[in-house]
Amino acid sequence: MARYARVKGSIALITLTNPPVNALSAAVRRGIVESVSRALKDEQVKAVVFCGENEKFCGGADIKEFSGSMSGPPLVPMIHSIEAGEKPMVAAIEGVALGGGLELALGCHYRVANTKARLGLPEVTLGLLPAAGGTQRLPRLIGIPAALELITTGRHVSAQEALQLGIVDQVAQGSAVQAAMELALSVIGVCVCMLCVYVVCVCIYCVCVTGQPLNPRRLSLRAPVWAPDVDGVCDAALAQVKQRSRGAMAPVACVQAVRAAAMLPYSKGMERERQLMDTLFRSGQARAMQYAFFAQRNAGKWSLPNGSQWNNTRARDVQRAGVIGLGTMGRGIAVSLVKAGISVVAIEMDAKQLESGKKAVTAMLQRDAQRRGVSPPLHLLTFTLSFHQLRDVDLVIEAVFEDMNLKKRVFSDLCKVLRANALICTNTSGLNVDELAAVTDRQPLVVGMHFFAPAHVMKLLEVVYGSRSSPEAVATAMALGKRMEKVCVAVGNCSGFVGNRMLKLYLDQSVYMLEEGATPEQVDQALEEFGFAMGIFKVSDLSGLDVGWRVRKASGLIGPDVDPVKPSRWRLGRRYCPLPDMLCQQGRFGQKTGRGWYLYDSPGSKEAKSDPEIQTFLEDYRRKYGIIPRRITSQEVIERCAFALANEGFRILEDRIAASPEDIDVIYLFGYGWPRHRGGPMFYAGQVGLSVVLEKLEHYHRVHPDVPSLEPSRLLRRLVAEGSPPIQQWKSHIKNLRSHL
Ligand code: NAI
Repeated sequence: MARYARVKGSIALITLTNPPVNALSAAVRRGIVESVSRALKDEQVKAVVFCGENEKFCGGADIKEFSGSMSGPPLVPMIHSIEAGEKPMVAAIEGVALGGGLELALGCHYRVANTKARLGLPEVTLGLLPAAGGTQRLPRLIGIPAALELITTGRHVSAQEALQLGIVDQVAQGSAVQAAMELALSVIGVCVCMLCVYVVCVCIYCVCVTGQPLNPRRLSLRAPVWAPDVDGVCDAALAQVKQRSRGAMAPVACVQAVRAAAMLPYSKGMERERQLMDTLFRSGQARAMQYAFFAQRNAGKWSLPNGSQWNNTRARDVQRAGVIGLGTMGRGIAVSLVKAGISVVAIEMDAKQLESGKKAVTAMLQRDAQRRGVSPPLHLLTFTLSFHQLRDVDLVIEAVFEDMNLKKRVFSDLCKVLRANALICTNTSGLNVDELAAVTDRQPLVVGMHFFAPAHVMKLLEVVYGSRSSPEAVATAMALGKRMEKVCVAVGNCSGFVGNRMLKLYLDQSVYMLEEGATPEQVDQALEEFGFAMGIFKVSDLSGLDVGWRVRKASGLIGPDVDPVKPSRWRLGRRYCPLPDMLCQQGRFGQKTGRGWYLYDSPGSKEAKSDPEIQTFLEDYRRKYGIIPRRITSQEVIERCAFALANEGFRILEDRIAASPEDIDVIYLFGYGWPRHRGGPMFYAGQVGLSVVLEKLEHYHRVHPDVPSLEPSRLLRRLVAEGSPPIQQWKSHIKNLRSHL
């Protein structure tokens, strides 16, 4: 809704009222249209000020309306009638002016922002473009290069930057509404400088803009923003977004729309904007990105199989934390904790490791503080070899080597020094959290906090609850993760939890395809064209092939009875690909050794180059095992990788390891580089069509009967049998499936 009031005698104040961010719902749009018409008709009213309730101007369109049929007055003519109004219109921007909110402000003749306001056109992050004139008005206001940058990235700007760019006319230290009203009064000729006595401003002391005609303030009347270098600027932006967007259509459409603002009159530009928006709206990509938006927002609303959930469980306050092990993970975890304002006691096993960890953590914090122009919070850190220093902490995060016996030793040592109510969390990538908890004197206070490398950068945190973990412990880990600015997902306890359990099958398919005839380059190229940030073999080289090798050795898959020259392709009753082990035997651990699936200029360098030795190695291998190589298409690569992931996702849902398909998708979006414009592996399966996925899995399982993971899951079969319901309804089918077991 919108509230109408007449203030200061001659100003109509229109307040958008739709908490929390005054989104432009149908009711709000209707309220605005009625209020504007009333203001234009009221002869006492000489100017109009728009503001938002609760000091938030407007957060944009109501995304919930995107999925249904739109009702109420459309945005484009509404903004146009505001701009065409014969009385000065002023936007008073407090809090946020985002998306449609900023487009509404651009339709006004003047804009005033409070110092704390943030402005932006983030539509691109939802797979769309600013289609209420934003792509046509903003370039006319601030020029092509600046508009391109803001519209293609969706970046928010501060009020100060908005002033420098020319988006707003004034920044107010105090109330933007007050300042907007003063500006409105001065525009209509009432001097507010307090120095003069004139009603109509002729005062030389003040900066009134009295008497300004409105036409120059109407952005739609401005000519196209053509300049000799415009083509070059747009071409460069197009090349940049194509490279960055990994197949996402929206950033490309944004460039095309802004280019129209440079070349075409406003009305033609608006037509182009509408056509581009229609294409995006109909594309699966916009649906995927909107789905990802809501999935991310809901991930924090965790629930456990016993009914405990985010809104009925209190988290404990965490002021002091311990981090055990300052290797790759512990360093990033310590940095994230300190940045969240938490005191950290960081422990290593010997003086050398402690010194190296201390140096790394300090340097990371210093770099970050320098970038943000603040001083590094080093006073929050204590580095020590002594577990006794942990006696006052509220919670410990263990990040020592992935070795069950070592972790058990650390856990029981911790129990000797920690307060009785301190939580113990493990960063294990997949070990059994219950087994670890069993060696402690506090099973309810043990949970997994599975961060991703590098932990101070990667957004994902899997909070793993064991069978005895208390809801309070889960709530505390989730709240702590949120404070550390992570996207947190609560998951159950099983080998590899959600992310790594699925990853294993994806990795398996990739190496099987190498056996069958593909090269690492072909597989990676197909995955990158699909939209992954990096192909699976490049990622493996980056993480280090030795990591998985050590895990396979520990789990007995590789041992003295395996032939080193011609290892078996069959282990534990199913197909096994020894190629990664054979690479490790040659010392090819990936980037760290300068050789892995690819070749690198030197150990540690990042640019992956094809290695002819790998081609020969694969050819020899196939010859040795009598495999006749065949051509593997990109389609097969995507189907086998993506459908294997989704199939395991369905099993994870059956097992109640993840509470919803959305949680699985959030894990893949934030931890494994799944392209956002494809929603996530579960959403993608739904979008391709569950019956298609089922048919393909049946086909691949027939061809590879020794790969049990390709056998379609029961849940997938059940969903297809029940008519492939939309993803939001899968949860109820999981309940039915379980009740039939
Ligand atoms: P890392 O080998 O880089 O570091 C482990 C650190 O623990 C070493 O600095 C070592 O000196 C220290 N340490 C060993 N025993 C200790 C003890 N008794 N007391 C104190 N410090 C001790 O290992 P990384 O990669 O940091 O992994 C740590 C844990 O995080 C593992 O459980 C791993 O599975 C998990 N993880 C690793 C990821 C990765 O990408 N590296 C991602 C997610 C989880």
